[in-house]
Amino acid sequence: MLEVNSVRAGYGVINVLWDVSIQVARGEVTAIVGPNGAGKTTLLRTIMGLLPLQRGQVVFDGEPISALSTWSLPERGIVMVPEGRMIFRDMSIEENLMMGAFPKSKRAAAKAQLEEVFDIFPLLKERRRLQAGTLSGGQAQMLALGRGLMSAPQLMLIDEPSLGLAPVIVQEVFEVLGRLKKAGRTIVLVEQSTNMALKIADQVYLMQGGKVTLSRRAEEVSVDALHELYFSR
Ligand SMILES: Nc1ncnc2c1ncn2[C@@H]1O[C@H](COP(=O)(O)OP(=O)(O)OP(=O)(O)O)[C@@H](O)[C@H]1O
Ligand SMILES: [Mg+2]
Repeated sequence: MLEVNSVRAGYGVINVLWDVSIQVARGEVTAIVGPNGAGKTTLLRTIMGLLPLQRGQVVFDGEPISALSTWSLPERGIVMVPEGRMIFRDMSIEENLMMGAFPKSKRAAAKAQLEEVFDIFPLLKERRRLQAGTLSGGQAQMLALGRGLMSAPQLMLIDEPSLGLAPVIVQEVFEVLGRLKKAGRTIVLVEQSTNMALKIADQVYLMQGGKVTLSRRAEEVSVDALHELYFSR
């Protein structure tokens, strides 16, 4: 469904990604793990067209998307749930969700979509009139995921949803991700909680120093072996 082919990208003169290639199959969870500064977020930003490609190609459903603008990607079926959640704290929970339905073609279905999101996250429904700033970290992550779902995406890029959350809340977040997977969604999941990521993933990529250093089916990867690799370079 998504192919990243030998991509080089970075920030101005500083190159971060060195010929990175990944393949994302429809209906699967593709996990991207790796230490701080490995380039995981940079890869997601590059897929979203937030950073210019120096080399390589990003192909979605057989079509190169690198030339498309970032804002048109939700219309094409791709959304990013960014690191740090990036919710609008002064807006209500419902307003935050409606922001996720900004593509023109998605607006007509927004109300129905909102009900679907509320079914997945009943707490967001209960609190829909409250300011998003009143939510805890875990709830804010649910809101960020819900906002992503509002455009009925075919592909979700989710960056470190467990960041800064207590272990029991991390379990809750992964429980939701598991439900999204069961519902057949295609997800690229960037995570530092490698053991949680391995459990839910179908395919695993390890990134280190801007390169992919391991690419395997999840069932062939042991957490111990992964951690050894993780800290070895
Ligand atoms: N806006 C930026 N301008 C310049 N360099 C940046 C910028 N953002 C990230 N970098 C650099 O790019 C490299 C990769 O960063 P990136 O955020 O992609 O890593 P990451 O794998 O997502 O790490 P983390 O697990 O900490 O989120 C790092 O060396 C970082 O310092
Ligand atoms: Mg990151």
